[in-house]
Amino acid sequence: MIPDNKEQQIKSRQRVADHGEVFTADREVNAMLDLVKAETERIDSRFLEPACGNGNFLVRILERKLAVVSRLYAASSAQWELNALIALSSIYGIDILEDNVRECRERLLGVFMQASPSLTPPVGGRTSIGGRDMDHQLVAVARYLLERNIIWGDALTLCTPDERQDPIVFSEWSWVGQQVKRRDFTLDMLLKNQPMDEPNLFSDLGDEAFIPTPIREFPLMSYLNIPQP
Ligand SMILES: C[S@@+](CC[C@H](N)C(=O)[O-])C[C@H]1O[C@@H](n2cnc3c(N)ncnc32)[C@H](O)[C@@H]1O
Repeated sequence: MIPDNKEQQIKSRQRVADHGEVFTADREVNAMLDLVKAETERIDSRFLEPACGNGNFLVRILERKLAVVSRLYAASSAQWELNALIALSSIYGIDILEDNVRECRERLLGVFMQASPSLTPPVGGRTSIGGRDMDHQLVAVARYLLERNIIWGDALTLCTPDERQDPIVFSEWSWVGQQVKRRDFTLDMLLKNQPMDEPNLFSDLGDEAFIPTPIREFPLMSYLNIPQP
């Protein structure tokens, strides 16, 4: 079972002192998400949590989106899969502590599998489908999306917190029917030129529009081909 850490707010006093790590309690998470309720229930709305911890907010966002997917697409497993992946692919997180990033990904995968009509959630950290351990394509795609979207990084320097200090790179997933286009952007580029008061990528007020430049683009592909080596 993936532990649901929603009520464990502190892992250690050292981590609180070093990283300000105090997780938000579930009641507050839900109250805050209710402030943007419509967005949490829009399947493709994009969320980025720049200090996501082990995922208390992102887990609840994914649950809300998947509840809508299940309500709308219960009759078709193909439609469920596609829309559930759209929901997952629009959720992003960064945390400076590697174990939080791993936990966050696993919790999100657990929510994804729990909601799926055809999958069972990871047991003892292993993926199981119909009782058998197997590398199911849907799980592979979900895992890959989580690896790309939930990132070990420093949200202040916008780089990885290791000696390499690589820039944080996010993938944009744009869905066209059953196909998806991936474009990679550095977080630095995405944040550049953003007005502090009113973030707006697509200004129609006659002022200079900001169109970020991707560092990599991939051809439109079937979502089953998302995992890249
Ligand atoms: C107060 S906790 C909140 C965690 C989560 N958002 C929640 O509400 O449960 C702050 C989180 O920020 C992370 N953190 C601290 N400094 C950071 C930085 N520079 N970049 C990214 N994450 C950071 C910590 O590891 C910790 O998980």
